[in-house]
Amino acid sequence: MTAERTATDLFRKRFARDPEFVVRTPGRVNLIGEHTDYNDGFVLPMAIEQSTWVAAASRDDHDVHLASAGHPDASFSLSQVSRADDGWSEYVKGVAWAARAWIETGWDGAFATDIPIGAGLSSSAAIEIATMLVFNTLRGGTWEPVKAAIAARRVENEWMGVGSGIMDQLIIATAQEHHATLIDCRTLDLIPTRMPDDLVVVILDTGTRRELVGSAYDDRRASCDRAAAVAGVPALRDLSASDLESLSQHLDDRTFRRARHVITENARTLEAAHALADGDIARFGDLVDASHDSLRDDFGVSSDALDVMVHVARGAQGCLGARMTGAGFGGCAVAFVRKPDAGAFLREVLSTYRSSVKHEPSAYITGAASAAAIVTS
Ligand code: GLA
Repeated sequence: MTAERTATDLFRKRFARDPEFVVRTPGRVNLIGEHTDYNDGFVLPMAIEQSTWVAAASRDDHDVHLASAGHPDASFSLSQVSRADDGWSEYVKGVAWAARAWIETGWDGAFATDIPIGAGLSSSAAIEIATMLVFNTLRGGTWEPVKAAIAARRVENEWMGVGSGIMDQLIIATAQEHHATLIDCRTLDLIPTRMPDDLVVVILDTGTRRELVGSAYDDRRASCDRAAAVAGVPALRDLSASDLESLSQHLDDRTFRRARHVITENARTLEAAHALADGDIARFGDLVDASHDSLRDDFGVSSDALDVMVHVARGAQGCLGARMTGAGFGGCAVAFVRKPDAGAFLREVLSTYRSSVKHEPSAYITGAASAAAIVTS
């Protein structure tokens, strides 16, 4: 059964009526530009076909009642939203808190998803943007995706206490079908870049998940802020390769390497967007490979499983480039493969990975999907 069908069936079963509308919100995969967003830098993500679906209908009171396939029900009142440790529904509550100035109507909602959870494909940002869209629809407001993304990021930062950047929410709210988007995370300029037809995007799930990514993430972020402060600039985005030598004299080795990753990754991301736009998929693949090596060696956010997956992918038929994607430490890699080789590539990677590590992998071929939207009303 599709996740959309699961959401609508669950709604009818749980709330004994029909939903008024259904929202679809994609996950995302970042092609290149990792750990650059919170440094005011550049990222190049796209929305994926795997999505979170919400079937919803308004209520006469100020309550929100939630059901989710595979999770316990949850509910709260809009007149008293308080932080607890209620699993996935905390994201819904966080949105109610972030958007409290304009929300009034309570609702019933049933959620279902085929985005792998905790795999670096932004399943949590999908819940946030989906919830924004539900509240906005009930209010009859104009949908402003960039504003929604900014508010959703506050949910991560201030409600969930994770210091993440704007990339995930912004791409999920604004993506264009068949396009990746180059995002300037300082100005929030969005430049859609058409995905070449001869390139297949393959998401390779290592089958590993890392708990407590938050503290390692915050630690990287603190290093970046420290390096920018030492260099006397607002963010690492303001430095380029020509600043590296002088930076190395003022920073300890670990902080310097972390800063070097961000500075070189920004340059790679801009070049990669040009290569994609020019259809130069070989160059694009080389930049993707260099991104992984920098994340592994300089930024220190890869993992053994990710390194094995990337190594196996690079050696398989038709691979142009492969890297870890998302925050790191586990979850998914992304590989770019010549279209005619996609089937052979998948078979080879899955069997070689299985024989190399004890984790069970999965793989998804995905086109570039469109942004969150209401699909039925
Ligand atoms: C997570 C965060 C993003 C970004 C990536 C790393 O996905 O939510 O904001 O920082 O890690 O690029």
